[in-house]
Amino acid sequence: MKKLIILTGAGISAESGIKTFRDSDGLWENHNVMDVATPEAWEKNPQLVTDFYNERRIQLSKSKPNRAHLILKELEKKFDVKIITQNVDDLHERANSKNIYHLHGELNKMRSSVDENLIYKTTKLEYSLEDKCEKGSVLRPHIVWFGEAVPMIDTAIDICKEADILVIIGTGLNVYPAAGLVNYIKDNTPIYIIDPAEVNISNMPNITHIKNKATIGCEKLMEILNK
Ligand code: APR
Repeated sequence: MKKLIILTGAGISAESGIKTFRDSDGLWENHNVMDVATPEAWEKNPQLVTDFYNERRIQLSKSKPNRAHLILKELEKKFDVKIITQNVDDLHERANSKNIYHLHGELNKMRSSVDENLIYKTTKLEYSLEDKCEKGSVLRPHIVWFGEAVPMIDTAIDICKEADILVIIGTGLNVYPAAGLVNYIKDNTPIYIIDPAEVNISNMPNITHIKNKATIGCEKLMEILNK
């Protein structure tokens, strides 16, 4: 089976009702990301950060995978599919995709604010600063905030090196190190981009840009790959 590596970003979940980051004038769900998604924000105002991620979890609980997520699952019938996602939602999981690698963490996990190895699946949508890890420190969202290391990046690089085909869906490719993953594929690997807008990718051979939203774009991709 050919190895089909898929890099997803916020755009794939847009049609499920979850806003992208950079399509809204730098504001993300009415917040400056720096006020809610940095270690400094957590230091300064943990209540605001906690409330923000509670809202995101509630919103996610009301969303469901769209046709694009489901098509990526269907592609497993013919390809060895691995999904590297920058998204913190669980819509790929709920579409039953088998191999999912979260680069930027997961909304449905919390972790100790003193020991990053103590990670817990969420048991509720809303957390408070009273919720503690087993060592007694406050639980924080299991999210890679701006300025933090991306522990999954080496695994993602190894996966990209193996790609027979690379598909990039709904990401502007503006945030590193994720945006640099395309540089690790073998020479002449075909790349398919699904995004209604231009994305930040240097001139590489073999790029096919399907300039549609994810749901329509993934239908087209499936047609092309099934030929
Ligand atoms: N279908 C496909 N693509 C879409 C759709 C759609 N329905 N709607 C918007 N897009 C595209 C936009 O054109 C844009 O290129 O999705 C992309 C979204 O880009 P960003 O908002 O920058 O999101 P993303 O690339 O996932 O951001 C990367 O930045 O804020 C951090 O950690 C956060 O994981 C995030 C990272």
